Amino acid sequence: MRVDRRRALALFGAGSLATGGSAAAQGAGQVRFDHGVASGDPTADRVILWTRITPADPSSGAISYAWSLNPIDRRAGGAKSGRGTTSAAKDFTVKVDVGGLDPGRAYTFTFTSNGATSPMGRTRTLPEGQVEDAVMAIASCSLWQAGYFNAYQAIADLPRVDVVLHLGDYIYEYGPEGYGAESGKKLGRRVQPGHEIFTLGDYRNRHAQTKTDPQLQAAHARAPWIVVWDDHETANDSWVGGAENHQKDEGSWNRRKAAAIKAYYEWMPIREPDGGGFSINRTFEFGDLASLFMLETRLTARDLQLDYATDLNGADGKPDVVRFRKRLADPDRRMMGPSQSDWLRRGLANSVKSGRTWQVLGNQVVMARIGVPDIRGAMAADKFAAATASLGPDGLKRIDRMAGISKLGLPYGLDMWDGYPADRQRLYDLINRAKANAVVVSGDSHAFWANELYDAPEGGKRVAVEFGTTGITSPGAGDALPDVPVGQIMADANREVVYSDQAAKGFVLLTLGRTNGKAEMMAVSTIQEKTFTTSVLKTFTFTPSPDGVSGLKEA
Ligand SMILES: [Fe+2]
Repeated sequence: MRVDRRRALALFGAGSLATGGSAAAQGAGQVRFDHGVASGDPTADRVILWTRITPADPSSGAISYAWSLNPIDRRAGGAKSGRGTTSAAKDFTVKVDVGGLDPGRAYTFTFTSNGATSPMGRTRTLPEGQVEDAVMAIASCSLWQAGYFNAYQAIADLPRVDVVLHLGDYIYEYGPEGYGAESGKKLGRRVQPGHEIFTLGDYRNRHAQTKTDPQLQAAHARAPWIVVWDDHETANDSWVGGAENHQKDEGSWNRRKAAAIKAYYEWMPIREPDGGGFSINRTFEFGDLASLFMLETRLTARDLQLDYATDLNGADGKPDVVRFRKRLADPDRRMMGPSQSDWLRRGLANSVKSGRTWQVLGNQVVMARIGVPDIRGAMAADKFAAATASLGPDGLKRIDRMAGISKLGLPYGLDMWDGYPADRQRLYDLINRAKANAVVVSGDSHAFWANELYDAPEGGKRVAVEFGTTGITSPGAGDALPDVPVGQIMADANREVVYSDQAAKGFVLLTLGRTNGKAEMMAVSTIQEKTFTTSVLKTFTFTPSPDGVSGLKEA
């Protein structure tokens, strides 16, 4: 664990624990449903239903439950029900993969156990045949301590949402003195358990606390979710063999990874891969309109990230850009393994061949080419001085260090696709070969992005549009520099970045039609108070064509 000592001292001993949540129908000795309900991974005839039963006695044995799923429309037939048992082996979580459903149909569902009834959830299957449009809410990065999950509530309040895509960082692994400590203390919103999480019990407890949040419960109860993990569901900047935030004295990485993923499978409404493992690449078909490919780019194949702190300078202590660039461009460095690429190649080709208009890639990290910003260089001297007056010498030093790397023309995010350019090129080749109308959606960066992706740094062909969703709560670069127009500086300096906002919190609402697409950047007014409003920060439209997706138009 890396501890910021200043923060650790400031927060030592402060400790009221957040325990929100809506418990349904309790009584002494009864079980409870403290963590709401969820559904996920819909297909045209199946959906996963999820809940967690809180036993009165945690050492109790198996607990039996019943579930029921009922169509919302009044057409005859189609109700389903069943029974099962859960136990401590699954942390008393419940996951039912219900089959035999009708395509494009909306349902409600509940669970009962020992006289208690869960909250009611709404879900729907994916449509079949001719489909006019699809509406997806796209979310990522919900740091508990950073603020209230108002953006999840805003998703729950949407008049229409067919599926919610969660692109990762659903939980974070840090302890209360880590990321988000200051606001966590201010809001009395501290993580449980009160230390960095390592063991199966730790990861289970963090998931359990997260799902006590009533706003998150509301979003889960609103629509089916399609999820992938990013790094923080295990540890920061994870890759196949480790993570930036996994130190040698913290035990086996493989054991930690296995514990984190077991808890994830227990607590998330995801259909698990046959035989377990980490390969959660999945395809979802929205009738004849769109295919959605969910990519796992962390734990299956990803190579170690390069790091400016350790990899940039040569033996003489000066930047060795030639050597760094050579390492960065190494064709053997991967985000996705060969079998994943093969799966995606076939999927893209089949989707286009079958006449589907859109090919959506749901992925964790931003794909566009983005250089390190030179903030000082981009601003007038007096404006820069005023905007950074509160930073102090360390903050200014950081800005100037970034400006130095900016002048070398190196990428902003070595943990993003920019850190694996050869593998990104392989992905672009797949898109080009399939003649796909590719829409990439990304999380992780705690910023909104509207990007146009090209298959060469200059010239080349546009291969996709990309929408990066900001955090539900996690702080972005703009939060650290509230008076600096960081997003504008990023857009001005980078060909592929059409728009960026580095401070807003919210989600992207993606609407795909037969002849056009629309992405709305939905922002909540605050995460520091429970009362908030939601507004559309920006809207971009784009159109499909036989030659691939068009550029972005601001609506
Ligand atoms: Fe994040």
